[in-house]
Amino acid sequence: MKGIILAGGLGTRLYPLTHATNKHLLPVYNKPMIFYPIKTLVSAGITEILIITSGPHAGHFIGVLKNGKELGVKHLEYAYQEKADGGIADALSLGEDFAAGGPITVILGDNTTDAEIKSYVFHFKSGGTVFLKKITSKIQLRRFGVAVFDQKNKEKLVRIEEKPKNPKSDYTATGLYIYDRLVFNYIRQCKPSARGEIEITDVNNIYLHHQTLKWVELKGFWSDAGTFETLYRANEYWANKGGI
Ligand code: G1P
Repeated sequence: MKGIILAGGLGTRLYPLTHATNKHLLPVYNKPMIFYPIKTLVSAGITEILIITSGPHAGHFIGVLKNGKELGVKHLEYAYQEKADGGIADALSLGEDFAAGGPITVILGDNTTDAEIKSYVFHFKSGGTVFLKKITSKIQLRRFGVAVFDQKNKEKLVRIEEKPKNPKSDYTATGLYIYDRLVFNYIRQCKPSARGEIEITDVNNIYLHHQTLKWVELKGFWSDAGTFETLYRANEYWANKGGI
């Protein structure tokens, strides 16, 4: 399996920090943020990785990651998304040639977790897999994609709602997914959302429509780091743990 890390965007929620560099190169305890999703992939046996970035500081990645060897990456590629605010799925569409018809594990560059995903990667056959995490704070849930389950069958995921005002469950969609090659066709079917982005949530809902999206609960710590609050939270967790 190959892996794709989405590390674009302008990181406006972290201004003025992100005037200086790309969000995914900011420190989380003693490492640049992007080291964490790289570690998640490499630990799952994924050593061919594409980093998709955008924005004014895209060149900074090379100096930090070089060819990825020090992190256990065997093959590291970079792609540049012209429209920095085009959205996650728009960025992912640049990975089609890299995927070369095979399945891909996708992780957002600002997601840090100590969960093991190796067995899901190993046993993946087709369709999509989305990793969910239970969060009890309604305020936090409103910032994410939130799972909607069937009223009768509480295990059955029927829909994901992006940044809902009234979250219908406590389960957030983390930025960690496994997709088969159809993901690129599904991205082409998506229209920009109200915030002008091609949403990964819309792609997941297409998989759900075809009844080919599985969900699993992510075990262990998970946090994004795209706001001051969550950047602080991620730093605190990894500092207490002593890093990766
Ligand atoms: C994105 C996704 C959202 C997901 C989140 C996880 O949100 O759109 O569904 O829950 O990542 O980090 P964004 O960071 O673009 O607001």
